[in-house]
Amino acid sequence: MKIAVVGTGYVGLVAGACLADLGNEVICVDVDEKKIAALRQGKIPIYEPGLEELVAKNAREKRIFFTVDSAKAIRESRIIFIAVGTPQGKDGSADLKHVFQVAETIGRNANEPKIVVDKSTVPVGTSRKVRELIMKHSKHNVEVVSNPEFLREGSAVRDFMEPDRVVIGATSEEAGKAIYDLYRPLECGILVTTPESAELIKYASNAFLATKISFINEIANLSELVGADINEVAKGMGLDVRIGKHFLNAGCGYGGSCFPKDVQAIQKIAKDKNYPLEIVEATEKVNARQKLVPVQKLNKEFSSLKGKKIVLLGLAFKPNTDDMREASSIEIANALVKQGAAVVAVDPIARENAKKILKGIAYSDSVYEAAKGADAIVLVTEWNEFLELDFEKIAKEMKSKIIVDGRNVYDREKLISLGFKYYGIGR
Ligand code: UDX
Repeated sequence: MKIAVVGTGYVGLVAGACLADLGNEVICVDVDEKKIAALRQGKIPIYEPGLEELVAKNAREKRIFFTVDSAKAIRESRIIFIAVGTPQGKDGSADLKHVFQVAETIGRNANEPKIVVDKSTVPVGTSRKVRELIMKHSKHNVEVVSNPEFLREGSAVRDFMEPDRVVIGATSEEAGKAIYDLYRPLECGILVTTPESAELIKYASNAFLATKISFINEIANLSELVGADINEVAKGMGLDVRIGKHFLNAGCGYGGSCFPKDVQAIQKIAKDKNYPLEIVEATEKVNARQKLVPVQKLNKEFSSLKGKKIVLLGLAFKPNTDDMREASSIEIANALVKQGAAVVAVDPIARENAKKILKGIAYSDSVYEAAKGADAIVLVTEWNEFLELDFEKIAKEMKSKIIVDGRNVYDREKLISLGFKYYGIGR
């Protein structure tokens, strides 16, 4: 099938490459000429494991192309995916201007009946608005289908190729079936429903996952007060299949481009209907506080952080990504700098992106270098590089052996035996 994908960000580029790998001929469109030129040379602008190879393979086999000419791509394709950004507006709602711009372009260039697939995360009711906008300009019938993405950064290719489920929201049976057939090779559960339900499934899923994280973080804070170990509590809870073990890892809060944005967006959707989502509101408040828990522990350990050398291990909002959006490290670093600490950060991939956001901190390539004369280490992002460190060597380098394990990944007993004072989150 000839497919156009408009938007070559995390979602658009991954969707385009994967749809090409499933045998479709895909043309990826972006307004950014530099980005398109780089993609044509096989240069991938985002760090996503497996994506570079996938794009290269499908470019070699002439199944994926890149262009800035959206009109041509639309004319030549039967199915057009909208995968442009829907950033958070000032009032928390999703900013749909890019989605509507693409819709208008499709309307003006539809030279035959088309199927538009909305993959961008959009408020409930957007697909109907997109169709109205398209049909204002199009002489041909254009159906719009909602097909939300459930891709996690750092595993987006795998999440596309091996999804738990595909959700399709369609008003036209024929359009729903055409998109169903597109995903049939994935042999996974495919739910065909209405556009409104499909759009709400996306927000409700992310809000629930975020709520699960804030819930376990609150239980972690309680665990400390009652002398329990949150890792044990989470293990015991997760053995109940109704709860499940995933997304029960307590830590210093969630970040990223999706959870914070979608948690705000679903609250706005509800507020607009005069129905406040009190649990989701609490999820957001708990998360904001949780990000600063590592700093509170350092404040408990040191009467003043002024002049103290604090090493931050990890800056990205999670491992295997260079993405710094809403990363817990931002709140932690800013709070430490505000208290006069000398912060040195180590991150294998996100360092360049972090430099654009985090001012007043130093950076190092090596944990062992950074540990020299350090008063404390804070593990913020659980990169594999930080999981098997030589703490015996680190202990010799540090001025005081304080470690705050912001993601509960270290062996507390082993660190204590090496002379560290260990602070976990909930243990
Ligand atoms: C999320 C959703 O998982 C995905 O389905 C959706 O399409 C996009 O948003 P992503 O934001 O890329 O994906 O990362 P995810 O792996 O979900 O982690 C989000 C944040 O939650 C990270 O900061 C992570 O550190 C934190 N997290 C995750 C926890 O604190 N505890 C957990 O148990 C899991």
